[in-house]
Amino acid sequence: MCKKCEAIVPDLHASLEDWTVHILTAHHDWLYREFPLLLHTLQKLKNRDDCPIGLEKILNTLMVLKEDLDTHMAKEERVLFPLIRLMEVTNRPPQDLSVMPGTVVGPIHCMEGEHETTLEILNQLGEDLKNCTPVSASHAWSSVVRAISELAQNIREHIDKENTILFPRARQLEEKLLADPRRFS
Ligand SMILES: [Fe+2]
Ligand SMILES: [Fe+2]
Repeated sequence: MCKKCEAIVPDLHASLEDWTVHILTAHHDWLYREFPLLLHTLQKLKNRDDCPIGLEKILNTLMVLKEDLDTHMAKEERVLFPLIRLMEVTNRPPQDLSVMPGTVVGPIHCMEGEHETTLEILNQLGEDLKNCTPVSASHAWSSVVRAISELAQNIREHIDKENTILFPRARQLEEKLLADPRRFS
């Protein structure tokens, strides 16, 4: 059980369908719900007299992160995940299904590159947090730090599941289906 998202993590050998559903629920939906709440809290804190020094920089980095993730997740939801599911359910490689794009390799490579960018932004966020100085020891600030850490952890788990489980397995399935001698029979 993932503590941060309270969603059951599928077995390593669960179907790719189960893995996509898990990632959508525990990470995509979680981010769509929690990220705007965090930004709202930070905006309110920014308007207070005891606004921490450096908060503006954190907010800017979070905005960049949100834009980056919204675009990235939309591509996975509209293109890559449906393609992976279709390949699994039909037991046919995308090359034989007359769908766009005709392979999972290209979109996966693109998503992996975007994950690198997201991780760089998260590193920047960590630096911004280190350089931020609260002017008073307030409860509001410690809960914001906790919420940012939870967000960063959820995103790192999200990327790790895609990079180490979903994407390698989708690539392997495509390779196996392409090599199947019954493919053209
Ligand atoms: Fe994702
Ligand atoms: Fe992703």
